Order: sequence, then structure tokens, then C-alpha cells
Amino acid sequence: MAQPTFTTHTGMVDILPGEVEKWQSVENIIRETAKSFHFHEIRTPIMEQTELIARGVGQLTDIVSKEMFAFERGDDHYVLRPEGTAPVARAFIEHHLEQRGGTQKLFYMGPMFRAERPQKGRQRQFHQFGAEILGSAHPLADAEIIAFMISVYKRIGLKNFTLKLNSVGDPESRKRYKTILQDYLRPHLTKMSKISQQRFETNPMRILDSKEEEDQHIISEAPVITDYLNEDCAEHYQQVKSYLEDLDIHYEEDPHLVRGLDYYTKTAFELVSPDLGSQDALGAGGRYDLLVEEIGGRKTPAVGFAAGMERLLIACDALNIKLGATPDVDIYIVTYGDEARKWALTHVGAIRDAGFSCTMDYAARSMKSQMKDADREGARFSIIVGEDELKTGKFTFRDMEQSAEASLDFDEILERLNDTLA
Ligand code: HAM
Repeated sequence: MAQPTFTTHTGMVDILPGEVEKWQSVENIIRETAKSFHFHEIRTPIMEQTELIARGVGQLTDIVSKEMFAFERGDDHYVLRPEGTAPVARAFIEHHLEQRGGTQKLFYMGPMFRAERPQKGRQRQFHQFGAEILGSAHPLADAEIIAFMISVYKRIGLKNFTLKLNSVGDPESRKRYKTILQDYLRPHLTKMSKISQQRFETNPMRILDSKEEEDQHIISEAPVITDYLNEDCAEHYQQVKSYLEDLDIHYEEDPHLVRGLDYYTKTAFELVSPDLGSQDALGAGGRYDLLVEEIGGRKTPAVGFAAGMERLLIACDALNIKLGATPDVDIYIVTYGDEARKWALTHVGAIRDAGFSCTMDYAARSMKSQMKDADREGARFSIIVGEDELKTGKFTFRDMEQSAEASLDFDEILERLNDTLA
């Protein structure tokens, strides 16, 4: 086949008919689950001010330092949003959502953008669904957020995953732990990877996340943050674990779980799946009690998660979980001649308004190729309209499965459709 003149950008993909239906069925399950948990949908623009993302996600993170799609227009600096939490927190502040009273339980779905190296399960435009609870410091909120995330996967039929859990503490606990971690790492530093050496001063906890071979045995012996949490953080972590046990949600503690975004405090979690390959995180999240204040709002404790929709679909494929298929059409109108085409054009509306899907030929093709097309579209019935039919007002109504035909006027056709399809 000839090479197309234009193609999508690297790491950005078209979602075609046949695939879209799978997305729609996943989106429906997410919406239904959100409704049952009483989360409300929020939609924010796909562009945000660069400064919001830099301050929210963290200047030194990979996302901000090297993966942003950023551009300028006049004096304005924008980025395509790399994630949804900072935008939701911005909207929460901008629209004074705290004044609506109680905790705000919000969910979202949509495209996110990160200029990462594309591979299976990692794209430059990808889609997340996520949820945030703003205005609660209580570990109940952490447990509900995790329960919501897991509930979506269970409703879809995915059960093969592990919830990894950690507490990354608050600034006070972290400050203490960082010094202890640096003291431990310092003598090993020259043997460690370049990237870990770079992170030693700026963000030593990210070293624990290193995938480099030479770092592994050093990391495995490192002191863990959960041993250095202050009383408040330790108590919170304990309660989250105990609620998860009450909910029968199995978790594995992973004291090396540090997230790639800077806003986390206390709870951090990741849902990993063996069906995904190297990009194995289905979803992830945690508590971010300082973010709203950091970007100019009032102190508002919060917790949330986001999950990759492409990865969810990859896992469904791997497990042969069948999601929505391209819908068949109820009725195909086969036409012969201009008058018949006009009849079809002016009668499809009544059929559709009666609640049935209906299509017709748009290329003045032969009746034989229209019948073939009706088969390809999975038509349940066809209506054949030619000169004779128009004269008599009786049309050939064909049951495509049974290969049975009847001669009916239009009202009788609608009645028959109501009897068989409604
Ligand atoms: P994150 O860990 O950066 O967290 O992303 C969450 C999920 O989005 C990942 O686990 C993965 O499934 C998916 N994901 C991330 N990057 C890509 C990519 N390049 N291609 C495909 N999928 C990807 C956040 O975004 C936080 N906002 C989560 C959160 C919400 N924390 C609190 N509230």
C-alpha cells in the first residue's frame, strides 16, 4: 500500500471503529461505578498554564523536566496536561468548590500528554480515568479511593492484579528519613548508576525507584521510610491498612514505592498487573494534602488515583475479556433508482425515530452489491425499494437471518419491527 502523506505523531494513535466500542463499554462501566460511589464528573481543558503543572507536579520530576508538550502564545505559557490531579485542584480553587460543602468527590476521563519514549502501554497521548476526594484527611477517603479503582477493574472482569501500598510520610518525616537514606547511600554512591548519583542530592527517595541493575542490591538493603514516620503518618498508614483489610482488599506493602510526582504525602499506592509487560502499572495514586495550598488555595487534604485506559484494554486483550463490538444495524434500505433513493432518504427518519438503527446505500450501487453491503453491516432486516414497490406501496421486507421475505406497506413494516426488535 502507498505510504500516506500524513500520519499521527509518534506515540499518538487513532482509535478506530471496532476499537472505539471497547472504549465505550469501558467508559460506561467507569461512569456506572462512579455513580454507585457517588463521584461527580469534572471536565477540565486539555491545556493548563505551565506554572501550574511545574508547581503542582514538581519542577524536578521527569514529567516537568523533560516530558511536557509546552508552547507559548504571546506572553502565555501552556502545556498539554500531563495528568489530571493538578488541573482538578486548580478547578477546585478557581470555582470555590469547597463552598459547596462537605468533601468533593470528583472523577474524570480524558487524554493526557507526556513526551515519553513510546512502547507497549506507554504513549505520548494516552487516556486516564481518575478520581479525587478533596477536603478529607481521614483514612476512610484513602480506602474509598482504592475501593473505587479496584471496583472498576472487577466490574470489567480483571482480577489479576496486586495493590502495592506505602506511606511516603509528610515533609517532617521525609526530612528525617532523607538524611538517614543519604547517610546509608553515600558510601555506595560511586558504584551506583549515573541517574541515581544525580538524584542523590535533589531527590534521594526516587533512587529507591531505580530500575538500574547496579543499584538493586544497594537499594534492597536501604532503610525504609515506614520505620521513620512520625506518629500522625504512622497512625494514618495503620488505619488505611486496617480499612483495606475490612474491605477484603489484599495489598502488598512496598516500602520502596515512591511516586514520580512530587505532591504525595502519606499514602501512596500502585495497582500492578502481570498481564501488561514492562509497563505494569494499571493505575496509581495517593494522598496529596499540600497540593491545593501549594498552588494557591486553602489547606485542603486530598487523595486520588488515575489509571491508564490503554493499559486496561491491553490487560483485557491479554485475558480475552470481550468488550463492546461494532454494533450491527437493524435495517438496511436497498434502493433501485432515484425515486427509491428519495423514498429511503425521507423514510429513514421515521424508522430511526421509532427506535431502530437504519442505514442505506449512498453510492447508487447495484442491488446485488447493496445486499452484500447489508450483510457486511450485519443488517437484521432489509427493505427493498424499486419502481414496482413505489407504485404499489408494498415493499419487500427481508429477514436477513431467515432469508424470508414478505410484501408489506410502510406501517406494516414499522409494526413488524416493533414486534420483532423492540
Ligand atoms: P501516574 O502514575 O503518573 O499518576 O499515572 C497514572 C497511570 O496512568 C499509570 O499507572 C498508567 O496506567 C497511566 N500512564 C501514565 N503515563 C502513561 C503513558 N505515557 N502511557 C500510557 N499510560 C500512562 C498520575 O497521573 C496521578 N495524577 C495519579 C493521581 C491522582 N494521584 C492522585 N490523584
